[in-house]
Amino acid sequence: MPRLIGAKKKNIAVFISGNGSNLQNLIKFSLKKKSKFVINLVISNKFKANGLNYAKKYKINKKVINYKNIKNAEKNILNELKRNKIDLICLAGFMKILSSDFIKKFKGKIINIHPSLLPKYKGLKTHQKAINNNEKYSGCTVHYVNSKLDSGKIIIQKKVKILKNDTSDMLAKRVLKQEHILYPKALKKVLTNL
Ligand code: GRF
Repeated sequence: MPRLIGAKKKNIAVFISGNGSNLQNLIKFSLKKKSKFVINLVISNKFKANGLNYAKKYKINKKVINYKNIKNAEKNILNELKRNKIDLICLAGFMKILSSDFIKKFKGKIINIHPSLLPKYKGLKTHQKAINNNEKYSGCTVHYVNSKLDSGKIIIQKKVKILKNDTSDMLAKRVLKQEHILYPKALKKVLTNL
């Protein structure tokens, strides 16, 4: 019997709404020799999301989704996922909440990066909340997505020390650096179980 050389790479879609630094970072990882994934779709709900420029630069299919009607939006997204044979969805600064119907269809195949040490500080303004509460640490978490906001099973986390006189912007910058290390690590873990 012929030996299988190298399993097929997994197809990943990254969902964004803004800057896209995590997207850019994941693209770079996907281009490494030993990478087990390829990013073949970028979904954005914002026409002007900076991250779309990375899709363009690396010639990755991109689709801007009109979110006026969430049902239609998700139907369009599902079509794109099917067309691109997507195995896993990575949310990276995607500011829309996916419906539980949508999540069911991709059960266990949607992950998200969140800028806090979950289960603390779900939602927005996470670093400001951590500073206001005199926390010693903020950080970031990659987790599976379920129907409750920022509540799915945690895959991996990284602590970042809150310094005296930190503003939330200063802290966010340091955490973002860690996000860029954490997300590829999480992906590696997830892909071995997919
Ligand atoms: C990151 O802080 C991520 O944790 C949060 O949104 C931000 C996205 O940043 N969900 P970028 O667009 O990847 O630069």
